[in-house]
This record gives sequence, structure tokens and C-alpha cells, in this order.
Amino acid sequence: MRTINVDFDENNYNIYIDKGVVNNINTLLKQHTKSKKIIIVADSFFQDSIVHEVNSLLEDFEVYIHLMEAGKANKNMNEVLKIYAILEENNLARDSTLIAIGGGVIGDLAGFVASTWYRGMNLVHIPTTLMAMVDSSVGGKVAINFRQTINAIGNYYHPIFTLMDLELIESLPSREYHSGIAEVIKCAIINDAHFYHTLEKNYQNILTKKEQDVESFIAQTILIKIAHVQGDIREGSKRLLLNYGHTLGHAIEISTATNYQEQYRHGEGVSLGIMAVAYIAEHHLKLSHSLYKSYEALFKTYQLPTYVLASRLGFKREELIKKCMRNVQKDKKRINNHLRLILASKIGEASVYSDVPIELIEDAFAHIIKD
Ligand SMILES: NC(=O)c1ccc[n+]([C@@H]2O[C@H](COP(=O)([O-])OP(=O)(O)OC[C@H]3O[C@@H](n4cnc5c(N)ncnc54)[C@H](O)[C@@H]3O)[C@@H](O)[C@H]2O)c1
Repeated sequence: MRTINVDFDENNYNIYIDKGVVNNINTLLKQHTKSKKIIIVADSFFQDSIVHEVNSLLEDFEVYIHLMEAGKANKNMNEVLKIYAILEENNLARDSTLIAIGGGVIGDLAGFVASTWYRGMNLVHIPTTLMAMVDSSVGGKVAINFRQTINAIGNYYHPIFTLMDLELIESLPSREYHSGIAEVIKCAIINDAHFYHTLEKNYQNILTKKEQDVESFIAQTILIKIAHVQGDIREGSKRLLLNYGHTLGHAIEISTATNYQEQYRHGEGVSLGIMAVAYIAEHHLKLSHSLYKSYEALFKTYQLPTYVLASRLGFKREELIKKCMRNVQKDKKRINNHLRLILASKIGEASVYSDVPIELIEDAFAHIIKD
């Protein structure tokens, strides 16, 4: 079992990574709390598997279960209110524990509930998607969506411990697995050239989910994320670097969604966003085109998109470019009229730039959005 100790502000906790690591849950919980009451908030996908397993392991506890469907549309206040009702009816207090079992949707929502119930009850994360393991369960951001606004209501809240069970990765559909790898590649580009080259070299083992390689790249990504979140206390822009590829990628994600139906998984938006900022970096920082080509090849290896085919998504190319520009400008308003973009000057090194001309951003969208 690999243990990563996390030390954020006043929060110090462990992330345990291994196959079958959930088997330790009863012992770990007894070390952390005297309260007997537990609520499991889980993706209904796991009703007959891990939820059942965790419930039967918690022999010393009184357990309540709330199952919910994953998907962004369910990350809302209605679902939060249903969980508050169970907590109130059964007298769960701040020393009781909420165990979140699921991907980013369940982790973000359940984490939000835990952070607000009596100003904060115990939280345990059991992330089940690669996205949740390497990104959403680490760093303390918890949130729900409000109407059309993603993550509008949120908080910062850390678990008492996190269990990353590598067995869960096995049932993960390829598209979800690849989507998580986009965040792994992002962390390598902003922080660690050696890690980037390992991802290039070991692609076969990673794509076939070889246990040692999976454990290793998950741990490396988490360590990079932790370093950037911790660094934020001293250095304002460090956490911001984790948004590499996200500003433009998010604009593409929301611009291509039709009738609340997303076309791209979050990680796919990130790979597209990284291609767009790689184009910007090449022109703004006068870099060699080989860097763009290298990212393109790596994303292709991991079956992640590097361009958008507008007509296939039912859009006219020009309209989609304009829509992306409108959505990216919304981001601009939020940060005092400066669109701050993160650009990588080389693999392993990125910085924040506030001087990218708006025309170059439009060129970048035009470059990756094809007919
Ligand atoms: N808090 C943060 O810092 C942060 C960071 C990144 C993303 N997020 C949030 O994460 C959410 C997306 O998370 P996600 O991509 O994990 O999506 P998700 O939770 O919706 O899960 C994706 C799909 O995978 C299924 N699934 C989950 N685990 C599985 C498994 N082991 N085997 C088979 N199927 C499984 C789910 O049922 C669902 O259909 C978004 O709401 C996003 O805002 C938060």
C-alpha cells in the first residue's frame, strides 16, 4: 500500500492507494472517530458492489446509505437537501462521518454536504473514476452547480482520509479512463518533463492499466497537485497553474454542449484546451512547432481529442468559434478584464500571462475548430 501524506493549512491527512485498500475502512474509521454514525453517499452504479462491500465491512457502525445517479445534472441542491434530511432524521452530528463513493460528481456534492452539515462533519473520499483520483478528490474544492452555473455554490473542505482502490479502475469505461489521463498529462506539462517522457514511453502499460504503472502515475499526479495547492499559500499563482488548458477547454466544453447534453468529457475539454494554448504559446512566446506536435502525439496516443469537427457536432464552424469567444470572455469579466492564460514555455515549465491579444485567442479556436 502506498501512503501519501497531505498537509494543507491545518489539515493533515493520508491518501492510501492500493488494490483492495477499502478493506481497511473499519479500522481506519475507529482510529478517527468515536461516533458510531455513518452515511454513505454513493453513485448508484456501485449499489451491488463496493457500497455493499463497504457497508458489510462497517460492522461496528450504524450506517445510512444515499444512492444517487452520477452526471453533472445531478450535482444540485435537490440532491443536497435529500441528504440533509437523512442526516437530520437520524441525528448525525459533526463527529459522524460521510463516506463519498463515486466520481467527481458524487465527491464534489457529498464533500459539499459534509462541509456544511453542522459547519463540517467527518468526510472520507473513496474516488472511483481516474478523474476523481488524480484531481477532484485532492485539493479540497467541493461544490454543486446552480441553474446554468457550474460549481456556483462551494467550499474548501478536506477529508480525514482517502482510499483509492485500484480495483475500481478496472470497470471504468475507456472514455472515462482516457479523460482522467488528460489531467495527468496536464500536471506533467506544467511541472515535470521527466514524468511527461515516462507517459510517452510507458503508454502501453498505462493504456492496458498495468497495476504498478497506474499506481505510479496516480501518485505522481497527486504529488504535483499537492505541491501546487500547498505552494499557493506562499505564491499566489501556483494553484492557478493547475488550470492549464482549462480556460479555453471549458469554453469549448460549454459551447459544444447542446440541450444540457455534453459532447466532451471534462478531460477531453482539457486536451482540446491544451492544444489551443499550445498554439497560443507557440506564437506568443515564439516557440518551436515541435512542442505543439509533441502534445498532439501524446493526446492521440491516449485517445484524447486534439481538434473539434464542428459539423459533426451540428455546428457551423464560424458560429462555434464565436460562441467559444463569447464564453471565454465571460471568464474574462470575472478576473478584472484580464484574461489570464497559462502558457508552457517548455515541457515542465508554465507561467501565467495576462498580455495575450484577444485576436490570438480567436486564432487558436479557429486553429483547432475545423469544418
Ligand atoms: N473538485 C475539483 O477540484 C474538481 C476537479 C475536476 C473535476 N471536478 C468535477 O468532477 C465532475 C466530473 O467527475 P467525473 O468525471 O468523475 O464524473 P462522474 O462522477 O459523473 O462519473 C463519470 C461516469 O463514470 C461512472 N463511474 C464512476 N466510477 C466508475 C467505475 N469505477 N467503473 C465504472 N463506471 C464508473 C459514473 O457512474 C458516471 O457515469 C464534474 O462535476 C467536475 O466539475 C471537480
